[in-house]
Amino acid sequence: MTSTLFITGATSGFGEACARRFARDGWALVLTGRREARLQALAEELSAYTEVHPLVLDVRDRQAMEQAIAGLPEKFTRLRGLINNAGLALGTDPAPRCSLDDWEVMVDTNIKGLLYSTRLLLPRLIAYGRGAGIVNLGSVAGHWPYPGSHVYGATKAFVRQFSLNLRNDLVGTGVRVTDLEPGLCESEFSLVRFGGDRERYEATYAGAEPIQPEDIAETIHWILNQPAHININTLELMPVSQTWAGFAIDRSRSAS
Ligand SMILES: NC(=O)c1ccc[n+]([C@@H]2O[C@H](COP(=O)([O-])OP(=O)(O)OC[C@H]3O[C@@H](n4cnc5c(N)ncnc54)[C@H](OP(=O)(O)O)[C@@H]3O)[C@@H](O)[C@H]2O)c1
Repeated sequence: MTSTLFITGATSGFGEACARRFARDGWALVLTGRREARLQALAEELSAYTEVHPLVLDVRDRQAMEQAIAGLPEKFTRLRGLINNAGLALGTDPAPRCSLDDWEVMVDTNIKGLLYSTRLLLPRLIAYGRGAGIVNLGSVAGHWPYPGSHVYGATKAFVRQFSLNLRNDLVGTGVRVTDLEPGLCESEFSLVRFGGDRERYEATYAGAEPIQPEDIAETIHWILNQPAHININTLELMPVSQTWAGFAIDRSRSAS
């Protein structure tokens, strides 16, 4: 029976690139996302290589997640991998000017959605045992602060700590857990973050030679294909063009 990989957020960016990468190796795929037309088109394309089960759902909808996972067809139940990828950032305004609604969407998607898929799929991963693995999409924002990152960065700090804690609870099961922490990657992520502002989106990546979704897919492919006795705990990557800014210092109190 083929190994199955469950990917949340497969309609663009990393999730889509992972679906393509693993399809080439013949993994059966369960692909999720809210944009039905994109999901169906990808499922149709990849079904030339492997078995694909598209699930149109919102990871924030716990009931929908429970129903979809309970109803997985038999041939997709031998779960070897879970890529908790669905996620987003909304806005970069300073905290006092942010919308509380946006903060809630980030918490509900990046934290609660990830918890639903993890908890609901853990029994299947444990049943697979040695060789199974979860890759959670954290971010450099989870441990490097930057202006405007507030709740987004905090959700990714949650993902990092949850991933490490989960490893402890899975000892003896053979199931691996990785927190993958990318820096600047070119995807619709920034289009979503900037509310569809294409100019700002393009300016984000201009001249920076950012990481591409295919680079992330290769990294995840490497993580999930490590020998069964190896766990990549955390892995941070940035494009060479990206480094850290210095400390910000408020000098408005200096004598004039
Ligand atoms: N790009 C970066 O620079 C970067 C860096 C570090 C970490 N990350 C993280 O990597 C992950 C993937 O990002 P990406 O760059 O590939 O962004 P992307 O191209 O915008 O893809 C995000 C995916 O998440 C899905 N998604 C968002 N909200 C969802 C919801 N409520 N329910 C179901 N699916 C949902 C989207 O699908 P639908 O809209 O169709 O639902 C889409 O497939 C995210 O967790 C992000 O935080 C990105």
